[in-house]
Amino acid sequence: MKRDKNHVYIFDTSLRDGEQSPGNSMNTEEKLLLARQLEKLGVDIIEAGFPIASEGDFDAVRQIAREIRKSQVAGLARANKQDIDRAWQAIKGAAHPRIHTFISSSDIHLKYQLKKSRVQVLREAAAAVKLAKSYTPNVEFSPMDATRSDRNYLAEMVSAVIDAGAVTVNIPDTVGYAVPDEFGSLIAFLFDRVKNMGDTVISVHCHNDLGLAVANSLAAIRAGARQVECTINGIGERAGNTAMEEIVMALATRRDLFGLTTQIKTDQIYKTSRLLTQITGIPVQPNKAIVGANAFAHESGIHQDGLIKEKITYEIMTPQSVGISDSHIVLGKHSGRAAISQHLKKMGYILNEDQLNRVAAKVKDLADVKKDIYDEDMEAILYEEIYRGEEKYNLIYLNVVSGNVAIPTATMEMQVGKEVIRDAGFGNGPVDATFAAIRNITKTNYPLLKYAVNAITGGADAQGETMVQLKYNGNSVIGRGAHPDVIVASAKAYINALNRLEFLKDNAKKVKLELS
Ligand code: KIV
Ligand code: ZN
Repeated sequence: MKRDKNHVYIFDTSLRDGEQSPGNSMNTEEKLLLARQLEKLGVDIIEAGFPIASEGDFDAVRQIAREIRKSQVAGLARANKQDIDRAWQAIKGAAHPRIHTFISSSDIHLKYQLKKSRVQVLREAAAAVKLAKSYTPNVEFSPMDATRSDRNYLAEMVSAVIDAGAVTVNIPDTVGYAVPDEFGSLIAFLFDRVKNMGDTVISVHCHNDLGLAVANSLAAIRAGARQVECTINGIGERAGNTAMEEIVMALATRRDLFGLTTQIKTDQIYKTSRLLTQITGIPVQPNKAIVGANAFAHESGIHQDGLIKEKITYEIMTPQSVGISDSHIVLGKHSGRAAISQHLKKMGYILNEDQLNRVAAKVKDLADVKKDIYDEDMEAILYEEIYRGEEKYNLIYLNVVSGNVAIPTATMEMQVGKEVIRDAGFGNGPVDATFAAIRNITKTNYPLLKYAVNAITGGADAQGETMVQLKYNGNSVIGRGAHPDVIVASAKAYINALNRLEFLKDNAKKVKLELS
């Protein structure tokens, strides 16, 4: 079938480039959950991970490949046999598998990192594509650090990998060095210079070190690129990658200018962003384009006046178009199981009997202390009760005494593996005492880097959403918790961070990835 030249492929790398950045590590269950939502969102390609990196990565990629049927599933591999074989083993069960192989093309990387000549690297790039091609026709190649490479050598490499069978060639701005005009002209140069380009899809993969990832990707699209590699909320190495929601909404909102389409269901954008936040505990900044809390909030009187008269005065896209509905009351004390089930279906969640019973019980508990329950509350319940995998540490009960005359004291019972342990902690306030109790029970003492509380929805009875960041081995983990009682929410966040830390320790087995 002939490719639609006006279609921009959306290649989501949240589970690979995104996941490898600090604080964003996910366990297999969480990766699956996000992959399912990415498919619902309509991304063309899900880069599920780097299978050679660890057993955990391999297993997650394999499970995603087996389950996802509509989106293509890509596995990353350096340009060598071991990586490519491993990537293929992980993705071969996919309905539409893709091998994404890469090697650096800049002299800086060749000299200092690979310690190889241009000729040798060119040969390895073509050989890697040929090997990948023996497994699947769907092969993508990336010349890493392309934007700091000699243009003629880059063109030679692009041409060589196309000859070897690459159907997509991705041009990465690995260190976020390019600026839009320059990057657009690099893409135009490649179209002009590479004579065997044919039907090859030129892709771009921009990092945001100078805050230009989205602008660079758009400039590349104008020059003919038809695949954009991006991540939800822009997560990724250092300053992150091109934000999916921004690139997609730029193309949709300025269709008059670009004349291009994606197959993204934009009304799933906000939900996907929220899911990632729930999983990683990393919130988006309030003024973040498209998905930030203030992205559609108009404060200035002049703007509000205009909006009341006619929305188009100050609104270039609607919150509904990205799936942000006015937070409406969805359920309350008297909502039955059927109403809960029906509402969850409307939100896109289909639960089995047991899951529905558990969620319904939690909704009832919450409704006892909170009058109105919103979509955001439901999402917090769903994530905490259903989607979190089996964990080492669990809260059983917490009792806190505090005030201006008592020494704040927390008494707590927790499940630690198969054991139930009870202990107490003292502190200068109820949160401090709670954290001390957790440390005593778990016999851990990781430095606390950050603690924050937010209200999920408005009102004094809103659920508190808390975030705890713990330091571990020069790294950090973030945990989150939600509960109408902020002290309980804080305990949950601390415990969640400890559980994530356990996962990180398991993952420490990850091989040190050196470019060979
Ligand atoms: O930034 C980069 O160059 C990458 C490649 C592996 C595509 O992530
Ligand atoms: Zn990258």
